[in-house]
Amino acid sequence: MEKGSIRYTKGFQEKRNIRIPWYLSLGENRYREMELKGKVALITGAARRVGREIALILAQHGTSIVIHYRRSQKEALDLKKKVKAFGVEACLVRADFSSQTKPLQPMIRHFVSAIYRKVHRVDILINNAAIFYPTPFGKIKERDWDEFFTVNLKAPFFLAQEVGMRMAKAKSGKIINIADWTGFRPYMRYLPYAISKSGLMTATVGLAKNLAPHVQVNSIAPGPILPARGMTPQQMKIVSERTLLKRFGDPRDIAETVRFLCAAGDFITGALIPVDGGALIA
Ligand SMILES: NC(=O)c1ccc[n+]([C@@H]2O[C@H](COP(=O)([O-])OP(=O)(O)OC[C@H]3O[C@@H](n4cnc5c(N)ncnc54)[C@H](OP(=O)(O)O)[C@@H]3O)[C@@H](O)[C@H]2O)c1
Repeated sequence: MEKGSIRYTKGFQEKRNIRIPWYLSLGENRYREMELKGKVALITGAARRVGREIALILAQHGTSIVIHYRRSQKEALDLKKKVKAFGVEACLVRADFSSQTKPLQPMIRHFVSAIYRKVHRVDILINNAAIFYPTPFGKIKERDWDEFFTVNLKAPFFLAQEVGMRMAKAKSGKIINIADWTGFRPYMRYLPYAISKSGLMTATVGLAKNLAPHVQVNSIAPGPILPARGMTPQQMKIVSERTLLKRFGDPRDIAETVRFLCAAGDFITGALIPVDGGALIA
């Protein structure tokens, strides 16, 4: 035998007498996939748009869905029906994360406990709910700042802490924070939004470290996927032009990335995946 290599003695490799470097023999097969069938996912802001697509893709692959919504009850009920049509369970939970009169953390604690009483476990948490509106510089109010930070950063962080600790105890779980590429390159008129998403990306890294080794925490940074309310075709064109691919993406682009991270991305944690048509590097 050559120095620095071993002969593999198992399976088809033995028959083909393949020589492989010694270091590859250390790990037999360490690749792991999480079976989505039979799992439970909690998705915030799931009733419409991107959240809805994530719910449908996971349900299609056998995951039961806890559909969180705030105002979109009709859409949430419709989604529940569609999710159930895939032969999995679905339930609705309502919560407004923007409360500026009551402390958020006890509310989140109560919210998560109620979910665990209902479904007994959460294998996947998708922090998708967010607010987005323009805040021109010079006119930014402290109220705006607080609202962006509460809904887009504090709520996902405390949800991840609450659910993540339970996942760590169960020795399994995936958390995905939906951020935004503008967290790195803020639009001038959306500064508090961009800073909240930038914080969410930093939180992802810290959560990944704290919840390792059994829970993986990652973030996805979408580029333009769906136009914001009131966006004109001309504004859409300008936004498209800022991507390398010169177009908007589709909610399915985000949903499929979520599916990949949950099912096959078992060796990925603390990562940020831009799904932005190259906007970040354009
Ligand atoms: N769309 C894009 O092109 C794009 C681009 C970059 C990043 N993203 C990120 O991707 C995610 C999904 O995007 P989207 O456009 O589908 O989001 P969206 O429609 O703007 O919001 C998603 C959901 O968040 C929920 N929500 C808002 N305020 C809330 C509050 N105070 N408490 C609880 N829930 C609240 C709403 O639920 P109800 O409808 O039930 O009230 C809403 O349906 C967001 O995190 C967004 O920042 C999106």
